[in-house]
Order: sequence, then structure tokens, then C-alpha cells
Amino acid sequence: MKTIIANWKMNHAFDEADNWIDGFFEKYTSDYEKLKNIEMVLCPPVMLLDYIDSEIMSDSFQHLEEIMKASNRDFEDFSEEELNQILVKDRPLKLGAQNCHHENSGSFTGEVSAQMLSKVSCEYVILGHSERRSHNFESDEIVAKKVASVVSQKLIPIVCVGESVEIRNDNKHVEFVSQQLINSVPKNTDFERLIIAYEPIWSIGTGVTPSLDQISEMIAAIKKIFPSSSVLYGGSVTSQNSSDILKIPAVDGLLVGKASLDVNEFLNICLS
Ligand code: PGA
Repeated sequence: MKTIIANWKMNHAFDEADNWIDGFFEKYTSDYEKLKNIEMVLCPPVMLLDYIDSEIMSDSFQHLEEIMKASNRDFEDFSEEELNQILVKDRPLKLGAQNCHHENSGSFTGEVSAQMLSKVSCEYVILGHSERRSHNFESDEIVAKKVASVVSQKLIPIVCVGESVEIRNDNKHVEFVSQQLINSVPKNTDFERLIIAYEPIWSIGTGVTPSLDQISEMIAAIKKIFPSSSVLYGGSVTSQNSSDILKIPAVDGLLVGKASLDVNEFLNICLS
């Protein structure tokens, strides 16, 4: 199953989120047969998580009602586990955050912890995005602490790695990304699941994408280090280039920034 993640970054508020979610369910219903086999994750600004969760929940309740009718069961007949499966785990659209702090709580103004995220229906957290590494000075060591915190809350970390254009021009990209990845993932961690996103910095938001061979080379290097992880590609993905990238057998999915702001474009990428 391919994983397609929408990273809205610091874009969209309530009205835009409403339109996006409405558009999502409209198209999801009409293209259900193709979309049901894709793991789709939305990472909105953190203040929207709970709001979008309740929007998605009303769709999940409709789904539960259909199951109740078809199986002739009442609400009380479902165990807590079954309800969690139907109302959260089976959702067509999962929720993720774009960052978190590594401590559970404390005097960290402006921060949100993995523990807090685990209280809303957030199942994934993007960590070590290059924008956070550069604007917020996040080191590999800090990213590794965040990954440990996310895993301890039973959330799925999406660890981002990628080289600058200078490193690529020096032909040191494989070495750099491999080391960045090893340093950004805590040792001896029992991962239920680890997602890694290869996002070359020179491709993010630039409209420039690496060649398919360049993507393949890096994904292969990453899979040598973490063979059982899902490895995604991210950087200027659109519906024009997504199908070629997804055809690379080792690519397990995509992390989409700008193009994910438009729900139709996002779903076209998912359908490609
Ligand atoms: P982009 O961003 O698709 O706008 O290049 C990708 C990302 O930063 O995750």
C-alpha cells in the first residue's frame, strides 16, 4: 500500500480546511475503489487537528451506521476495540502533526508534545523537516529525541532527511543522508513503524525534482540502513510527476507540500 502525505505547512485555516475535507469526501466516494488502497495522511497546522478530527468523525459514524445496519447489531454490541478500528483506524484520511517537542510537558512556550498529540486522533508526526532544521536549528540529536518521544506515545514518526545542493554537487549526498538518518533515529528503539521521507533541500518548493535514478539511488541507500521502513520521496511533487516517481518499485509513497493545498491536486496525486 502506498502512503501519500499532505503537509500543509503554515497554510489554511478553518474555511479552507472545511472546503478541503468536503472535496476529499466527495471524490473519495466517487473514486472509492482506487483510493481505498492508499494510506492518505493529512498534516494540517496543529490548531486544526481536533477540528478536522471531528469533521472526519462524522463520516466515520456514517460508516459505523452502515455496518450496524448490514450486520444487524446495536451500538452496544461493539467492543471498544472494534469501535476504535471503525472510527479511527479504518478512516480513509489519517491525521498527522508537522512537529512536536520531545518532553511530555513543561515550560516550553509555544510547543506541543507528542503526549498531547496522542490525545487527539493524531497518528503520525513529521519530524526533522528541513524547514525546521534550518529555521528552528533542529539538530539530528534533537530530532532523535523527538522520534523517541513520538514512539513512546505509540505515534508513527515520519523522519525527514535530505541534502543541500552543495553536498549533492560535491557528490557526498549518499554519505550525508545516511549519516543524517542514523543520527536522527534513536538507537535501540522498538519501532512499530518508521516512515522515512527523502526530501532533497534543493527540490523543496523549487519546482525542480531529482531524476528517477537519483531518487532510486538514495532510496536504495536508505533501505540498506532501515530495510523494513517505508521510504517516501518529497520535493516539488505534483500530479504531473507523481506517477513516474511512484513507479520506482522501492518508493513507498510521497510527501507532498504545496500541491497538497488543493484537494483535487492531492487526490490526483493519490490516483496516479
Ligand atoms: P513541496 O514541499 O512539495 O512544496 O516541495 C515538500 C515538503 O516540504 O514536504
